[in-house]
Amino acid sequence: MEKKILFIVGSMRNHSFNRQLANDAKKMIGDKADVTFLDYRNIPFMNQDIEFPAPEEVARIRSEVEQADGIWIFTPEYNFSYPGVLKNLLDWLSRPLKQGDFGGASAISGRKVTFSAVAGRAAAKGSRAKLEEVLKLMRTDIMNEPVTAIAVGPETMMSDELVLTDDQKKELEAQIDAFLKFIG
Ligand SMILES: Cc1cc2nc3c(=O)[nH]c(=O)nc-3n(C[C@H](O)[C@H](O)[C@H](O)COP(=O)(O)O)c2cc1C
Repeated sequence: MEKKILFIVGSMRNHSFNRQLANDAKKMIGDKADVTFLDYRNIPFMNQDIEFPAPEEVARIRSEVEQADGIWIFTPEYNFSYPGVLKNLLDWLSRPLKQGDFGGASAISGRKVTFSAVAGRAAAKGSRAKLEEVLKLMRTDIMNEPVTAIAVGPETMMSDELVLTDDQKKELEAQIDAFLKFIG
């Protein structure tokens, strides 16, 4: 049966380079897997007062995560970490599904995950390290190598268009091949 990969983009920006990279990855994957994007714009801020029963939007995104064979996060770096919107999503995904079931299963525990990043000069070194740390804490099954990590300079930043070099395309292809095997 065709494997399902869920893409999560850590940027809400219309011309997000990370979304552009995710679109490139989706094209390269083609019919080798069923790729969908998680739309999590409308989930509320984590607040334990509204945690149980889960808000409708949270229940929906949890179900999408649970149905995926693999999760691929594309994230920028904001101040040496990943953006707050992504942290909020991960906080919701990290919580037990049953009230009081501390340490119990969450929607994301045990899931196969990989990540890529487009950011400034250091190619998101800080956000990748912090994301890996939190994904480990959430007991996901991480594929952290090979990784696609792209540094964009001021010209690209101003152009709003991410054009991959041949080497970057190769990096992405290598990550796709490895992830398809990892979830296979
Ligand atoms: C609040 C904020 C903080 C940022 N901090 C960093 C940073 O610490 N390191 C870095 O390389 N880029 C940083 N950037 C640049 C973004 O990573 C870069 O613009 C990236 O392309 C944004 O992702 P997107 O194109 O997918 O929206 C920051 C951008 C913003 C808006």
